[in-house]
Amino acid sequence: MTDYRTLRVALLGAGAVGSQVADLLLKHGAELADRAGATLELAGIAVRDVDAKRDADLPRELFTTDAETLIVGSDIVIELMGGIEPARTQVLHAIASGADVVTANKALLATHGSEVFEAADQVGAEVYYEAAAAGAIPIIRPLRDSLAGDRVVRIMGIVNGTTNYILDRMDNEGADFADVLAQAQALGYAEADPTADVEGYDAAQKAAILASLAFHTTVPLDAVHREGITSVDAAMIESARHAGYVIKLLAVCERLTAEDGAESISVRVYPALVDRAHPLASVHGANNAVFVQAEAAGDLMFYGAGAGGVQTASAVLGDVVSAARRHIAGGVGVGESTRANLPAVPIGHVITRYQITLEVDDKPGVLATVAGILSEGRVSIATVEQTVIEASADAADSSASAGSATGAGSARLVIGTHKAREQDLSETVERLAASGVVERVVSVLRVEGN
Ligand code: NDP
Ligand code: HSE
Repeated sequence: MTDYRTLRVALLGAGAVGSQVADLLLKHGAELADRAGATLELAGIAVRDVDAKRDADLPRELFTTDAETLIVGSDIVIELMGGIEPARTQVLHAIASGADVVTANKALLATHGSEVFEAADQVGAEVYYEAAAAGAIPIIRPLRDSLAGDRVVRIMGIVNGTTNYILDRMDNEGADFADVLAQAQALGYAEADPTADVEGYDAAQKAAILASLAFHTTVPLDAVHREGITSVDAAMIESARHAGYVIKLLAVCERLTAEDGAESISVRVYPALVDRAHPLASVHGANNAVFVQAEAAGDLMFYGAGAGGVQTASAVLGDVVSAARRHIAGGVGVGESTRANLPAVPIGHVITRYQITLEVDDKPGVLATVAGILSEGRVSIATVEQTVIEASADAADSSASAGSATGAGSARLVIGTHKAREQDLSETVERLAASGVVERVVSVLRVEGN
């Protein structure tokens, strides 16, 4: 057996992910030592409650509630507590104590990333965070290293497992939102507060991290436009299916080039319609996929488990091995560049396609009025489909002559648009709502993917 140097590893958190990390570290210690070139000694596990039941059978003596003391003297600190505090304080304490940090905490990195990375730079420490975006899928290293010689144009990703699980089950089985969310929580996919998942905060944090790497720009969380999936109902899913789409919560990070060549970026998260033939449409369950378009490389797709304890533990342990190798080989890693410093544009500047679903009066001239308002608003119609949802008195009356319907029935109009500017679109939808012929704006969804 090779006589390796021993590196002391401190684990903060033993929940869905942390308990699996500890379990794999203990089970595969010898193999990991060969890969890392160092023996990885799990020095302790800091938690809130040392007696709580864990997902894995872990030695009781490793547990402590004293994270601060555990960190001192550690070579690698794995932060899997989640949330901002005390995670932020402990991560900064670990860096100041000379440790490298491995974290899956996108909330922390998306809000205090600059502070954490600057602190690490100052002392020559490294912060590894492969698990912070898209769970088990290797996407941080590809963006930071493999694509460092290319120019990323667009990222379109399903980056939240919980919401994909919910939308997929609603689409496939007509499952109820609340029931499926409870199952996603039980399966360990959801955040401690699942609002972070269903309202798109988690996806927005990941989008900020991915866009920062892809565009070599610090992207603050408040530059990310965010909408969640709580407004998505069975009728919207059915209407999407009818039109050949599936609804996915997408993170879209885009490089925009103006006519004068000036570049900016758009980073946004919202439920969008994806053509059922697009590769992202076949991402099921809690899986994630990140579709990257780069100038030289073309289209790349990264796919796999976006959430789950043991799956995420894989990404965390990959980072632990990288950190160990750096400790053994020495040398300070080169931080990723944020020097491009591209401005992020507001959502109103975004250009995409839309599907607008309206309930309208079913009477002559309504379609022409709707078309006129869209045209005035510079929104061009690509497709339109009308379904009668409530027949007019005349039409329902079998004695009425054909073609004489002038009464107050209702119809559903599903309008697909060509590409339009978001601001034009939203102003147009406001005018439609106030037009007197539209009873209700049922939904407005962006269409992404081609
Ligand atoms: P859990 O909520 O399951 O576990 C959190 C752990 O941290 C628990 O063991 C808890 O202790 C401990 N903890 C929390 N607060 C403190 C504190 N103040 N002091 C000491 N210990 C504390 O979280 P997950 O394992 O699901 O997630 C961990 C991180 O990984 C988060 O940042 C999350 O966003 C990220 N992540 C999670 C994924 C997933 O699928 N679950 C996937 C990718 C990333 P105790 O058990 O005693 O309460
Ligand atoms: N709650 C997150 C999700 C965990 O559902 O994707 C993985 O980051």
